[in-house]
Amino acid sequence: MTFDRSLKIAPSILAADFANFGAEIRAVEAEGADWIHVDVMDGHFVPNISFGPATCAAIRPHIKTVMDVHLMIAPVDPYIDAFAAAGADILTAHIESGPHIHRTLQAIRAAGVKAGVALNPGTPASAVEPLLDMIDLVCVMTVNPGFGGQKFINMTAKIRALREMIKDRGIHIEIDGGVDPTTAPLVAAAGADVLVAGSAVFKGGSVENPAPYGNNINAIRAAVQSGG
Ligand code: DX5
Ligand code: ZN
Repeated sequence: MTFDRSLKIAPSILAADFANFGAEIRAVEAEGADWIHVDVMDGHFVPNISFGPATCAAIRPHIKTVMDVHLMIAPVDPYIDAFAAAGADILTAHIESGPHIHRTLQAIRAAGVKAGVALNPGTPASAVEPLLDMIDLVCVMTVNPGFGGQKFINMTAKIRALREMIKDRGIHIEIDGGVDPTTAPLVAAAGADVLVAGSAVFKGGSVENPAPYGNNINAIRAAVQSGG
């Protein structure tokens, strides 16, 4: 993975057919996905349960791009090695998931994986400042994590503050929640380069009829390019 700040669309498989992840991933990559976003939820840190390391390992061979794993779990540390062994390229932990995010990020990098830190809507950009030399990605949540298909919460001031703080460091700014052709231009203009989108990418399509996935991805890209 070489670093660049070009726009990347990362479909979240939380909005895909859970009985058919392999085929869904192949379809959405063929239709133009840049990364695959994998949402892990534990029913404790967030009020919903998705899947764990075994599912991640099973889908890994189907991902040709980047496996971007978003850990909405607490604690995180006991599971880092399992998610690293499952083949994650990036492991993102929530700053709110425990008292020792610094230790968690150290452990992710020690496992040979790129480290991300995610911020809930209620957490300020300044919380990232002491972590800047330990991260490859910061994920700004634009919904309260736990479910796909929620309404976008405007975090553009936070995104702008992070973009200024990051300067020329090789740190991606990822946006997660409620991204669609209307909201994507706002977050991209504020400095985001990775846009996670679940419902806005998978709506209207299927493995048998994947063309809408491509149309949906292109609609987000076009909206960003034209500035909304
Ligand atoms: C929310 C997840 C998101 C979610 C995004 O807790 O982290 O990745 O799947 O879904 P949409 O794009 O539908 O808001
Ligand atoms: Zn996510």
